[in-house]
Amino acid sequence: IKDLKSRDILGIADLSAAEIKDLLQLAADLKSGKRSPVCNKILGLLFYKASTRTRVSFTVAMHQLGGQVIDLNPNVTQVGRGEPISDTARVLDRYIDILAVRTFKQTDLEEFARYAQIPIINALSDLEHPCQILADLLTIQECFGKVSGVTATFLGDGNNVAHSFILGGALMGMKIRVATPEAHQPEPAIVEKARQLAVDGAEIIITEDPVEAVKGSQVVYTDVWASMGQEASAESRIPMFQPYQVNEEILAHADSDAIVLHCLPAHRGEEITEAVIEGKQSRVWDEAENRMHVQKALLVSLLGIE
Ligand code: CP
Ligand code: NVA
Repeated sequence: IKDLKSRDILGIADLSAAEIKDLLQLAADLKSGKRSPVCNKILGLLFYKASTRTRVSFTVAMHQLGGQVIDLNPNVTQVGRGEPISDTARVLDRYIDILAVRTFKQTDLEEFARYAQIPIINALSDLEHPCQILADLLTIQECFGKVSGVTATFLGDGNNVAHSFILGGALMGMKIRVATPEAHQPEPAIVEKARQLAVDGAEIIITEDPVEAVKGSQVVYTDVWASMGQEASAESRIPMFQPYQVNEEILAHADSDAIVLHCLPAHRGEEITEAVIEGKQSRVWDEAENRMHVQKALLVSLLGIE
């Protein structure tokens, strides 16, 4: 995907609809073994928050491409002792070929991108989780043979994962519904941006009504009620978010062939029940696997590997 070489992916809308489609195709080809590109590039991982899937899937993807990975986390670098992002970014730029950053503030990612020439990938911020949504889109494509026109509902907290889901869905022509408590609706600026980017056929509904949102939906998606950094309010959020739990009762309102997605890690008994995550409609393990395939496609494209 030629135009992607050297680009930063700080949000899902840094990709065009055509580029997302090409990435999904490349990811499918990498997954099936139809393509096996190789490189000797170096990926840096700089994660200010915990991670299992993103860390391991990026590491495995890069190793399978023949490249190497360096852990640059704050506890093992000067980053944790306060070296400015502007300095860190310019130094890392001289050593490594690509950098994935997991952080709190989106402006930190923007600063890395401003000071480093190498591609910067958002490996989750408080605003967005673009790598996750690429994996979700691949999973939806595998299940329904298409992404465009698919009705997908997100229940829970309208933050990072929901934001990328709304933007990615709008770009791909999906019918997106998001039901959250009033105090946790997605940021209006994100919804506005999604409405501007929405292609013909796309729909975006933001509501507080979980049952209406799920009716006839082909995808039911959820995420934790208290994200990393919000641990202090975790207990107090539970009663407010309870009506948005993905359980068998709410799932009965969805399409009978609906699939259930969760970015993981899951809190059984909170945003999703044991019966649903372990049930026959759950696709969460395929979704987690797809993180590796889409991120490998992203690495190949951003690094310009033939
Ligand atoms: N879904 C996801 O990003 O998982 P990790 O936090 O384990 O990377
Ligand atoms: N919204 C969650 C996603 C974790 C992958 C968080 O930010 O913690």
